[in-house]
Amino acid sequence: MTDSPGSEKSTKFYNLSQAERLAWLEQNTGMSAETLSILSGENGLKTEQANHMIENVIGTFALPLGIAKNFLVNGREVLVPMVLEEPSVVASASFMAKLARPAGGFTAHTTAPEMIGQIQVINLPEIHSARLRILEARQQLLDIAAEVDPMLQKLGGGPRDLQVRLIEDSPIGAFLVVHLIFDVRDAMGANAVNTAVERLAPQIESISGGKVHLRILSNLADRRLARSRVTIQLDQLAFGNFSTEEVRDGIINAWAFAVSDPYRAATHNKGIMNAIDPIVIATGNDWRAVEAGVHAYAARNGKYTSLTTWGKDAAGNLVGTIEMPMAVGIVGGATRVHPQAKAVLELMKVENAAQLAEIIVSAGLAQNLAALRALATEGIQRGHMTLHARQVAIAAGAVEEEISRLAAQLVQEKQVRIDRAQEILTEWRK
Ligand code: MEV
Repeated sequence: MTDSPGSEKSTKFYNLSQAERLAWLEQNTGMSAETLSILSGENGLKTEQANHMIENVIGTFALPLGIAKNFLVNGREVLVPMVLEEPSVVASASFMAKLARPAGGFTAHTTAPEMIGQIQVINLPEIHSARLRILEARQQLLDIAAEVDPMLQKLGGGPRDLQVRLIEDSPIGAFLVVHLIFDVRDAMGANAVNTAVERLAPQIESISGGKVHLRILSNLADRRLARSRVTIQLDQLAFGNFSTEEVRDGIINAWAFAVSDPYRAATHNKGIMNAIDPIVIATGNDWRAVEAGVHAYAARNGKYTSLTTWGKDAAGNLVGTIEMPMAVGIVGGATRVHPQAKAVLELMKVENAAQLAEIIVSAGLAQNLAALRALATEGIQRGHMTLHARQVAIAAGAVEEEISRLAAQLVQEKQVRIDRAQEILTEWRK
């Protein structure tokens, strides 16, 4: 059963039983049986551990953890873990990653891991000179901010810059916003940044003569971007009776719809997040923060638009790109507390937060391709329905081999409904 992790050369991962998939992982990733039992959830998060994470804990709540295959990111094979409830995402991401392989997979990079902390300064007697006074004290303020996390400083992180924005027409009139730019290295960074902006508040009040109000991180992490690009060779785009050119141009036309219309862009970007949130969740990161940043970024020019681009190169191949803020860490928070998140990071073999972000956005690009390819050709319902039918079959009470058989019949009848599923089951069991 040995083949290179990530690829699907000899083994069809989806045809294996769950136990065989774990055996495959043991053979192909070098992970111990113990870590795999954590990864599988068998020895996952205990209620006792959960009790220390949030308040009023009464238990834990499981979701499926699947692995998207075939991903080649910056020349490295990666197994991409996804935690989600929606059928067909793992399968379609894996399939798109396979189509990307002949042209080398995904090429991704990130900008510096710089987060922004905001300090709102109100009640300023003379706002313009206050702004300059804060800017004049830039170095002194950065030195104070540097003291909050000596460990981060040692690792090469820490405060990088200080900017002051003038907000002129707000419901309360003009005020200032100080932006502390903070390099958080491999952390998500909220704690370090929030501590730093709180620490700066008294100094900023005395320099400006105003009152510091809010002191908090911005989730519009537009200085911490992750980008990825992919080329899909034209011959990889064959689909049923559609010519490869038709599929390629159909994808580009579908993308143009999202670029120009926010109603479509919201759905287009939702499809991208179908792959992104599941990895953010699997690695114990804050998916609400990522979601907030991504959508704010999609509207950065005043109009909500697509987070991806699709076009064709000189040879006629399909070329896609993605760019978005990606505030994820591999140290701190739940990434180091949740046992499955730790095991997931081990599975991905990521050495730093940048590598994790690069994989996440590459999966988002793959998922967007899957949706546009389906929408531009046969529509998404056929593929979706096959998988959805399994859930309907389970919900109707089907067990073991009944599940696949019942799902197949529902799809064939084009009646993927729970009442029909129950009817069939009752007939079978008579
Ligand atoms: C469904 O979860 C996601 C899609 O709607 C995305 C899209 O329309 O691009 C298929």
